[in-house]
Amino acid sequence: MRSEQGKELPPHVLIFPYPVQGHLNSMLNLAQLFCLADFHVTFIVSDFNHCRLLRHSTVPATFSRYPGFQFRTLPDGLSDDHPRAGERVMEIMSSVAKVTVPLFKKMMLHENLLASAARRPVTCFLADGLMSFAADFAHENEIPLIYFRTATASYFWALFRFPQLLEAQQIPFQGKSMDGLVESIPGMEGFLRRRHLPSFYRVDDVHDPILGKVVAVSRHIVRAQAAIFNTSEDLEGPIVAQIQKHVPRIFSIGPIHEQMKTRLIEKEEEASISTASLWAEDRSCIHWLDGQPSKSVIYVSFGSITLVTREQVLEFWHGLLNSSQRFLWVMRPDSVAGKDGIPADLIERSKEKGLVVEWAPQEEVLNHPAVGGFLTHSGWNSTLESIAAGVPMVCWPYFADQMINSRFVSEVWKIGLDIKDTCDRSIIEKAIRDLMEVRKEEFLERADNMAKLVKKTVSEEGSSSKNLDRLIQYIKSLLL
Ligand code: UDX
Repeated sequence: MRSEQGKELPPHVLIFPYPVQGHLNSMLNLAQLFCLADFHVTFIVSDFNHCRLLRHSTVPATFSRYPGFQFRTLPDGLSDDHPRAGERVMEIMSSVAKVTVPLFKKMMLHENLLASAARRPVTCFLADGLMSFAADFAHENEIPLIYFRTATASYFWALFRFPQLLEAQQIPFQGKSMDGLVESIPGMEGFLRRRHLPSFYRVDDVHDPILGKVVAVSRHIVRAQAAIFNTSEDLEGPIVAQIQKHVPRIFSIGPIHEQMKTRLIEKEEEASISTASLWAEDRSCIHWLDGQPSKSVIYVSFGSITLVTREQVLEFWHGLLNSSQRFLWVMRPDSVAGKDGIPADLIERSKEKGLVVEWAPQEEVLNHPAVGGFLTHSGWNSTLESIAAGVPMVCWPYFADQMINSRFVSEVWKIGLDIKDTCDRSIIEKAIRDLMEVRKEEFLERADNMAKLVKKTVSEEGSSSKNLDRLIQYIKSLLL
């Protein structure tokens, strides 16, 4: 198909992410990588998030450089004051299915799969791994489907193995030790305990509807022509090899944020490295970090979804103060449940060593020379960003994939400590001291080595870079 000027039109990729920060980040980075390959890209975003991207991020300016890129906005079906966090984050899934998906289908039908004089109809549908409707939709419309799993391959694999876990009576957990070893997930034998399984398995009834949804969605992957994981062979090669027995065409192209940076630097387009923040970044923290000694600050952030109680905030706060380390803490305005404020004496005692902001430019913070550790909820983007920056972690996993991520950080890659789901000031204090003082050199050395590996994997000869080239070639081949 040719443009009006007679030029052969490039592939047109339709990207539909789950509408939360952690999914938008990696899928927008992938969209930009496709733009660099001169593809046309349509990116579905919720009205609510689009307004926030326009207000707080550099995304609109960055993507205005790519004439083949377009946003399409659709409602997510939730009111503007819905928290979209904590336990209620799962409500997004049903709301998208009920409201967004029918509107999306209507749009695709009325607009002939988004074809125009300057754009082919969609060449392939790149759907978030949480979009269960995508398999039927792609099949009915004869569009090749690629599922993008934004979390770890290990998390996906642990969900995919649901039938075997059930058969081995690993689930439900009732009455069984959380420390029991899980031996029915090939590739993870010997180090995975019940407590590290996806949090959705922590139900009394295996017919729990939310567990049912996340498991069902993971099974859909076998209906796609291909799957993308934001991981690398160095990080999860053996697990990806297991998944490949069920989904032969897998592209491990992560860490995508690092891949994107590397490609932009190669093209001397560093200015187009964008951030997709849905909150306003408080840049005063960079100035504050500039005044701190090298590797002296522990950065604290629990991502975009975590809700903590006031009691938990106080445990963290005391743990941080008692550890005597400098800290930079991101506390989203909506992230603390309950209305009572933080006691004035704690705030006063923190002034000397700590800074609290509502949202930070996280990648820049992690790459700042003053940052020597990261107290994290182990969200996959945060983990990858920390790995790429060579920053060791204290992990406090909150939900979903984060339990398994923190196990890999502490036991497999050995670049951090896992305090599990305990929230106790003395445990927090000890872990921070161990990471930042007692075992500092050991952790920094391993984290540095891991960062080098990851940088290599996205360099020209690295496996993730080659896999991205393979992915681009694969999408081009769909035109033939
Ligand atoms: C969720 C899940 O938690 C995660 O495990 C899953 O893989 C993706 O969706 P979230 O909880 O928000 O995401 O965590 P994470 O994956 O770490 O994503 C948070 C993103 O927000 C990161 O890219 C981080 O850089 C960014 N961020 C966070 C900021 O830019 N500034 C901040 O102050 C805090």
